[in-house]
Formats: sequence, structure tokens, C-alpha cells
Amino acid sequence: MNLDRLYILKELEESDLLDNFSCKDDEIDFFFKNLALTNQKVKISKIHVLSDKINHKTIAFISLSASQLNTGDARFFGIDKIPVILLGRLGVDSNYQGKDLGGFLIKIALEKAFEASTIVACRLLLVETSKDMKDYYLKKVNMGFEWFRDKKQFSTLYIDLLKYEKYR
Ligand SMILES: CC(C)(COP(=O)(O)OP(=O)(O)OC[C@H]1O[C@@H](n2cnc3c(N)ncnc32)[C@H](O)[C@@H]1OP(=O)(O)O)[C@@H](O)C(=O)NCCC(=O)NCCS
Repeated sequence: MNLDRLYILKELEESDLLDNFSCKDDEIDFFFKNLALTNQKVKISKIHVLSDKINHKTIAFISLSASQLNTGDARFFGIDKIPVILLGRLGVDSNYQGKDLGGFLIKIALEKAFEASTIVACRLLLVETSKDMKDYYLKKVNMGFEWFRDKKQFSTLYIDLLKYEKYR
């Protein structure tokens, strides 16, 4: 499906109406409605949103930030601190779930992380997600996510941007 025909991809703006957005995850909804714009203004997160071309509703978002993965040892790439782009939060309005918009936004995140790595070095697109979302990234999102570790209730997964550069 050609998603560009139906949806507009843009940065979150003050004028975007978020009141009716719900991805059915309270913590993610709270972040999007209350913190996302402020975080973007102070350059803590960059928020990319999709809006519906017909009804102008904001229907999905993804947040990206520069970050660092502390591996605690040098087994991973021979260093213990790896510069990364963090895929922070992702939400798709429940009325629009199951249409591959999550996958579409993750692909956008991957392209943007790669683009960023051509200016400021970063090696991974990283996601720290709940263990029950692990299969979504590893099996459903078919973009080369690899498992790094599980810690408490979270899983850390990544796409190696060096590999992506070779095979994109
Ligand atoms: C997770 C989320 C972003 C997926 O968005 P989406 O646009 O519906 O996703 P896609 O259409 O690309 O993929 C849907 C598929 O993923 C599967 N999926 C959704 N959540 C899953 C999970 N936790 N584990 C495994 N698969 C999952 C669905 O069953 C569906 O599978 P199907 O295509 O075989 O029917 C969306 O469901 C959402 O906003 N959820 C609440 C917030 C959240 O959990 N965010 C992620 C935190 S990092």
C-alpha cells in the first residue's frame, strides 16, 4: 500500500490536535499528549508524526534521540560505550493499528538514524522495549533488529547501522 497517498509525515507541531489520540497504552498516550512537544522544543526528543490526509487527525508518532549504550564491557564492537540513536516511544492510534503504520514509522526512524550517522557518528538504532514487544521488533518488523539483552522487564534490541549501510 502506498502510505504517502493517505498520510502526511511531519514533525510534531503546536497546532496538532492530540486530544483524541489513544494507542491504548496510558504511559505512551501521556507522553505524547503532555511531554512530547516540550521535549522537542528543548531538543531532548524529535517527534515525527503521521497525520491522516482526509480528516487531518494525528494518528501515529515516533520519538528519536541521541543516546549511548553502556554495554559494561568490551565484547560488543570492542568498546563499552556505543553512540546510538534511541527509538524512544512509538504509538499508533488504536483506530489505525494493524495497517503497518508502526512498521512504516520504524522504517522512517531507521532512515533518519542512518542519515544522522553520516553527520555525527552513531552505530546503532536502539530500542528498549517491554519484553512482550520483543517479538514485534524481532519477528513482525522485518528490518534486521537483533537482540542485545533482557534486563528486568525490558529488552534491548538494535539495528547495526554499519550493516544497514552495506545492504540498504
Ligand atoms: C505496537 C504498535 C506501535 C504497532 O503498530 P501497528 O501500526 O498496529 O503495527 P503494524 O501494523 O506494523 O503491525 C501489526 C502487527 O503487529 C503485531 N503486534 C502488535 N503488538 C505486538 C506485540 N506486543 N508482540 C508481537 N506482535 C505484536 C500485531 O498482532 C499485528 O500482527 P499481524 O499483522 O500479524 O496481525 C501499536 O500497536 C501501538 O501503538 N501499541 C501501543 C503502544 C506500544 O506498545 N508501543 C511500542 C512501545 S516501544
